[in-house]
Amino acid sequence: MDQQDIARIRALMEYEANRTEPPKAFPDLPDIPGGRYTDPRFYELEMQHIWRKSWLLAAHMDELPEPGCFRLWDNVGQPVVLVHADSGAINAFYNTCSHRGAPIVTEREGRKPRLTCKYHGWSYSHDGELLAIRDPEDFRNLDFSCRGLNRIRCERFGNLIFVNFDEQAPTLLEWLGPIADEWKEFQFDKCRLTGKHIFDLDCNYKIAMEANTEVYHVPSIHPKTVAPGLDHRRNVNTLYPNGHGRMIAPGRTPGVFEELGENIREITTVGEIARTCTQSYGIFPNWVSPLNHWRLPPLLFWPNGIDKCRLETWTMVHDWGDGPAPEVGDFWTTPDGSELGVVLQEDTQFGAFIQKSMESHGFKGVPLSYQEARIYHWNQAADRMIGIENIPPELRVAQVIGEEWMYPNDPRLEEIAKMQAEAVASRRDAG
Ligand code: FES
Ligand SMILES: [Fe+2]
Repeated sequence: MDQQDIARIRALMEYEANRTEPPKAFPDLPDIPGGRYTDPRFYELEMQHIWRKSWLLAAHMDELPEPGCFRLWDNVGQPVVLVHADSGAINAFYNTCSHRGAPIVTEREGRKPRLTCKYHGWSYSHDGELLAIRDPEDFRNLDFSCRGLNRIRCERFGNLIFVNFDEQAPTLLEWLGPIADEWKEFQFDKCRLTGKHIFDLDCNYKIAMEANTEVYHVPSIHPKTVAPGLDHRRNVNTLYPNGHGRMIAPGRTPGVFEELGENIREITTVGEIARTCTQSYGIFPNWVSPLNHWRLPPLLFWPNGIDKCRLETWTMVHDWGDGPAPEVGDFWTTPDGSELGVVLQEDTQFGAFIQKSMESHGFKGVPLSYQEARIYHWNQAADRMIGIENIPPELRVAQVIGEEWMYPNDPRLEEIAKMQAEAVASRRDAG
């Protein structure tokens, strides 16, 4: 972020603190239909489209550190094996043997010189080529070149490994768009993984995720933890293409975001805003992460049925080099990783209740405020990805937030410029 970006964000903070209504150019948001959290038809559409066409964070390089290392990944129901190839590339395949569909690996993780199916012994290279089969004389015309493992797209952002099931999807960098540039300061190519856990929750993944996609809830459910250090009235939301979003609010809660482990290394390239504010990104469809100069701790929300989800907590810090590993563990959990830490307990406490409410006859839809615009933006992007015509009309959201709100466009900046010009003119008149 350069000085101009910082000045723009500071001006937007003051604008947000002083406004007495939503920005003039901001549309009224129709209610989000409650069925999007409870209707199996909508869940099916999400599985068919959103989880198949989006880039999904699957692993960290530390989990596949050397050639031959592999790891199972099935967070969206598809059996995937990630493999560190001899070339250094990371490959992703369906964990499905080309012979009769047995799993290629059955261990959650490990390291093997080649991938050999345990059913009849077909073996594959780390690049998925079929190398050898037992009793080849019993097959007629078996073309090895088309019997390799079925590949899934896999790309890296620094040490983060993403997968995408869609052949037609844009590249990961195109998907991230301007965020890829903004993230240079965090040096994801030097981040190391210090903790990762998974927790089952009794609500739709969107209910859990939305608690981390707005600051409207902060004074109510985090009065002693997050609220004292975060100025929610100065929060600035930014909407990006593809459903991504960002929040920046001045302040951070001491003891929650600044508590440091031994030997943790500062990410020196991180700029003023991420050092002094809570700067959190939502990456469509399921990533939320407050990033700063000490930690990179994304939360991932995975579907697990219409009324269940899995919350995956990650903590990464800057590479500690040859020194001793820092004692940081997982920032989001208790030190032994068995329970969510206090902030996430607060965030998730109502999930099961909200799910039940939404399933009740009494619940129709969700009226969102301007502060909660990122949730609406996510839903608009979801419908576009599903294909609006594929969604039953009663489950759609209207596409009311237009391109004029997509970064770098921002009608608030025009309002600010107009207010500044008026102030200059009135001072001139007074003088
Ligand atoms: S199913 Fe894998 S070798 Fe037969
Ligand atoms: Fe929260």
